[in-house]
Order: sequence, then structure tokens, then C-alpha cells
Amino acid sequence: MEFFYVSLLCLFVCLVFLSLHFLFYKNKSVVSSPLPPGKIGWPVIGESLEFLSTGWKGHPEKFIFDRMAKYSSIVFKTHLLGEQAAVFCGASGNKFLFSNENKLVQAWWPNSVNKIFPSSTQTSSKEEAIKMRKMLPNFMKPEALHRYVGIMDHIAQRHFASGWENHDQVVVFPLAKQYTFWLACRLFLSVEDPNDVAKFADPFDVLASGLISIPIDMPGTPFNRAIKASNSIRKELVAIIKQRKIDLGEGKASATQDILSHMLLTCDENGKFRGELDIADKILGLLIGGHDTASSACAFIVKYLAELPEIYERVYKEQMKITKSKGPGELLNWEDIQKMKYSWNVACEVLRLVPPLQGAFREALSDFIFNGFSIPKGWKIYWSANSTHRSGEFFPEPEKFDPSRFEGSGPAPYTFVPFGGGPRMCPGKEYARLEILVFMHHIVKRFKWDKIIPDEKIVVNPMPIPAKGLPVRLYPQNQQA
Ligand code: HEM
Repeated sequence: MEFFYVSLLCLFVCLVFLSLHFLFYKNKSVVSSPLPPGKIGWPVIGESLEFLSTGWKGHPEKFIFDRMAKYSSIVFKTHLLGEQAAVFCGASGNKFLFSNENKLVQAWWPNSVNKIFPSSTQTSSKEEAIKMRKMLPNFMKPEALHRYVGIMDHIAQRHFASGWENHDQVVVFPLAKQYTFWLACRLFLSVEDPNDVAKFADPFDVLASGLISIPIDMPGTPFNRAIKASNSIRKELVAIIKQRKIDLGEGKASATQDILSHMLLTCDENGKFRGELDIADKILGLLIGGHDTASSACAFIVKYLAELPEIYERVYKEQMKITKSKGPGELLNWEDIQKMKYSWNVACEVLRLVPPLQGAFREALSDFIFNGFSIPKGWKIYWSANSTHRSGEFFPEPEKFDPSRFEGSGPAPYTFVPFGGGPRMCPGKEYARLEILVFMHHIVKRFKWDKIIPDEKIVVNPMPIPAKGLPVRLYPQNQQA
């Protein structure tokens, strides 16, 4: 018995010793490890201007690759949007961040975002994002997505009939935005009339370009314009919300018809219904996240298909096979989408070369070491899709457009990350896949096209867009020899 107690005591002493040693060693290593190499730039603005301006010049990857070459291909320090920051690069950086979500790091949005979405600051953008994540799966679950295909097809037909057919030339990017915005208005808010949709489409552009900006709230700054735009959209949304409440009360609207009804009728975890402004902000966030990204992808698909006729031909063949299998007036369905394998590989290659979201921020929850460098608590961490997408290490001949990269098991884990990864991976990924494929189906079925400006510049602010919106000359399929 005595031996048992002595052993227990020894075990206890060992555990205490080990814990102290671990704590001491851990702290010592955090303290003794150097900060990542890099420079912090100018006082206050740091390297924000270089970071943003490489995007404005169309080469956001330059900011990352210049510093990877100069300091470290895995992690470098900088100062962005008013914050001390480290940029994590490559598959190992992505893996580390995506696997340590809410353990060592958590989501972080620049101050500009919190100020443009004021209701978020009542709690925090992080908590708001968690709530949003909990709510979204209902609308992104397979049954719902299956239902959306037919609706998307119906809206796409109306969109192409009004915006593309009977035109010799069109400007693609604004049209792609009309399409994704119309879909979002229909599926999130049941707003389908194109006039109602158009009413609040414009302020969204202003809002999107001020979201990731230097947060200077003075007349004329992008940030100031974005705040004004968000207030005007919020007003429109609150009017729609008020009307929906009346319609639900009178039985004219259903509880399951869209995200708005769901938000109005579901309590939060404290048993409270959401306020009108809170709902307006959530819908605003979804409309931004859910249409600008996909429209950028659609526009660049049009660009690459114009440049690469052999790839256009294969997409056309795949889509026409589906068209020929349908009866007159029959809408696209889920099974049709599953047949669009080559088209999706093409879309993925576009998302690799021109990711709509360049990356995102995290915040360090505690001091930790990454790759031998110390990352202090509170530092912001940026992951960049381009650091793997444009790297020859992960994608041989990275500048070459090659959809076959996505055949078989596809790219290595953590290298192809247009939708992020880990617990915060984009919840709208499948929705985006559907809207992009439905778009591809309709455009190739109807037209071939040429770019009117052969070397049109690309601007990234914050989404990539062709500088002049991608004007193209259209050749309807039925008028070709
Ligand atoms: C091609 C289209 C799209 C791309 C490339 C894209 C990309 C991304 C990326 C990279 C993230 C993760 C950011 C991070 O790591 O913090 C994200 C998050 C998010 N996306 Fe998307 N997205 C797209 C479409 C959509 C759509 C259609 C919706 C809504 C219907 C949507 C809703 C969201 C939301 C709500 C989040 C935040 C998730 C969270 O914070 O946990 N996205 N998206």
C-alpha cells in the first residue's frame, strides 16, 4: 500500500515537473524565436498601399511573390490595413491556418468591414459569422440545392433573353453581375422582378470596392462611399423585411420560401427573434459574398473561352449533349449538373488563375510558433490563394490554362483553395458551382464570341475584374455555318 502511495506521489511530481517544463519551454521558445522576416513599411499605413496597388495594377500575386522571394517562401511579416500582420504562404501555411481555426487563430475582418456593417460591431464580426454559418446550411443542403437548379435555369433564360440575345456586342462583367444578383435576389429574398432587382444593384458595386480599403471616413474616400452605399441598401432591405412580415402574417408568404422568411421566423440561440437591422445586415453580407465572387468567375470564364477555342469546343460539346437530352421547355436539373464535369474543370482552372477572393485574414489567439518564427497574440495573419495557385511547385507551368489538372484526384490538398478551407470554408461553394455551370450552359449553347479589346487589363479591387468590363462580339450559334 505504501509503495502505491509513493508511486502516486512520484507520478504527481513528474506531471507537475513536466507541465512546468512544457510551459517554460513553450514560452521560452516563443520568446526566443524571432519574428518572421519582412518589413513593416510606413508608419500607420505600413505596406497597405503596395498590397492594394498591386491588385489595382492587376497583379495581386506580385505583393506575395516578391516578398516570398526576398524573405521567406513560407511566412513573412508586414503591416496591412492598420495591423501588424504575417502572411502565411504555400500549402503548409494554408494547412496550418485551416487546421487551427478557433484553436490558435480565428477569423478577423479589417476595421473597414466592421464599420460598414454596424450591427456586427454590437457583438463582433466573428460571432456574427458563426451565426451566419449556423443558418446557411438549411439553404445550402442538398434538397435545397437540387431545387435551385431549375430556378437558376429559369432566371438564366430570362437573363440571356433580355441581356444578350439580339445584341452584336455586349459588356460581359456587368451582365454576369446582373445574372448572379438576380439569382441571389430571387433565392434569398424572393425578389424576381428585374426592375426591383435593378433598384438596389448599383450601390453594391460602391460597397464592394470600399470593403477592403484604408478606413478613412472622409468625403470622397472609397470607405466613406461604401458606408453611404450600405446605408442606402439597408434601407431598401428593411422595407422588404417589413413587407415580408406583413405577408407572413396574412399568409401571403411561406415560412420556407427563402432565407429571409427563415431569418424572420427562427429564434437565435437565446430564444430571441432577430431585429430588422440585424437581418438586413446578414442579407447584405450574403448578397455581397454571394454574387460578386461568382460574377467575377463567370466573366473570366468568358474571357478564357474566347482565348482558347479548343477548350470552348469541348465545353460546347458537353453542354450540347445535355441540351439534346432534354424535352422542349424542360428545365435543367441536378443530374444534368453532374454531367458537366469538363465544364467544371474549366471553371476550376479559372478559379485557380483568377481567384475571386484573393485570400482572407485571421487573428492569432495566443503566441505561437510557425515554421520556427514567433507569431505574437493579436497579430493578423493573411492567407493568399495565389501563393499556391500560381506556384510552379504545386501547379507545373502555373501560367498555362490546363483544365486537366482537375481530372482524377486533382490538385494536392491545401493547394487549390479558391473557397478557403477548414471550418470556415465557403458555405456557398455548391451554390456557386450551380450558378456558374448554369451560366456556362446558357452562354455556349447560344453564342461564340470574340474579345473586342485583345489585351484588356485586369483590376483587382477587391475582386478581379476586366478593366473595361470585357466587351465581346457575339456570334449566335444558329447563324453559324
Ligand atoms: C465563386 C464564388 C465564391 C468564391 C470564390 C467564394 C470564396 C470564399 C472564400 C475563400 C471564403 C473563406 C474566407 C476565409 O477563409 O475567411 C468564403 C466565405 C464565405 N462565403 Fe463564399 N465564395 C463564393 C461564393 C459564395 C456564395 C454564392 C455565397 C452565399 C450564397 C457565399 C457565402 C460565403 C459566406 C457566408 C462566407 C463566410 C463563412 C465564414 O465566415 O465562416 N460565398 N467564400
